[in-house]
Amino acid sequence: MNETTKALPKSIKEKEQWLKDRYWKFGEEENLDDHLHDIFEVDNNGQRTAEPRFDPLNRETKGLMVLGASGNGKTALLMRALRMDPVLTEFKLPQGGNTLFITVPPDATIKKLAEIILAETGYTKINAKLRATDAWELARHRFGLVGIKTLVIDECHHILRPGAGRDIPAAIQALKHIMQSEHRVALIIAGVPELKDAILAEASGETMRRFDEFSPSRIRPKSKGAVLFARNFAKSAGILGLHVAEEDVIPERILFAQNGQIGKSVKLAKEILRAAVVRGRDVITLNHAERVYRKSNSGLDMTPFDAAEWDVVKAELTAIGWGQS
Ligand SMILES: Nc1ncnc2c1ncn2[C@@H]1O[C@H](COP(=O)(O)OP(=O)(O)O)[C@@H](O)[C@H]1O
Ligand SMILES: [Mg+2]
Repeated sequence: MNETTKALPKSIKEKEQWLKDRYWKFGEEENLDDHLHDIFEVDNNGQRTAEPRFDPLNRETKGLMVLGASGNGKTALLMRALRMDPVLTEFKLPQGGNTLFITVPPDATIKKLAEIILAETGYTKINAKLRATDAWELARHRFGLVGIKTLVIDECHHILRPGAGRDIPAAIQALKHIMQSEHRVALIIAGVPELKDAILAEASGETMRRFDEFSPSRIRPKSKGAVLFARNFAKSAGILGLHVAEEDVIPERILFAQNGQIGKSVKLAKEILRAAVVRGRDVITLNHAERVYRKSNSGLDMTPFDAAEWDVVKAELTAIGWGQS
């Protein structure tokens, strides 16, 4: 499947929407896939199936923890995997699917999360007096009834936050129980690095050892990810009818400016492309890029989009401490 070969956008509105929808591969897609290979059963051809990997000796499935700072692209990466995967399909009512994707609201308790799962799977008879453990038992039962084989819990750190009315040990237990469901379910949780710390707080460590860990890395200069990023930028510019001089090395400057953080880098890159589209331009210069950058970083003497040669600009910015954090 190809993500870019649809009808070419022509009008400004079409171009803007096209750009918004664009997922930019950054090289971690294959690493995620490699992790998925370990939490699902494979067939005799070595193809991953949608059946969670099951250990008959303890009747447990496995989990995967996706960790990274906010804006690192975890959600985009997971949603893309779900869109493109040959066997995993997102569960939606009424048609169904084998993978339920839940985003935990910031204030959700562990009971609330179970209720969200029940509602998403079409269970409407939720009794307000239901206890958290009962709500979870019901939820796990629903998975079997509606054919859900994988549960993705995004922003999972929210259920492990301390505070009044919050029960962290119960939340950790609920996660563990998903991997011990009668109807084998694989669990993928995503969140900030504190998510792991919270689960590690469990003295026995029994929940943590059921999870594999995956931290998508930032894009390092000259890496495969950096090459992919530059290609994505050039390709998008081309489709949007924008000329960008290669010797300006704008993609490399964007990565440097955002310290290789994927989410932030894509955001800035798209903002630079959009600025040209909505102004009806057909070219992007360093001056244009700098103007966009300064809109969220005002007051700098020199920016990575300075008109001088990139090597010179980079050396100067590095000398004053850029990219050290
Ligand atoms: N590979 C990507 N291609 C396009 N946009 C991306 C990509 N990764 C992240 N983004 C964008 O960057 C922003 C932050 O990404 P997000 O996935 O929400 O990060 P996280 O979930 O780690 O906080 C979002 O606006 C998202 O659309
Ligand atoms: Mg996210």
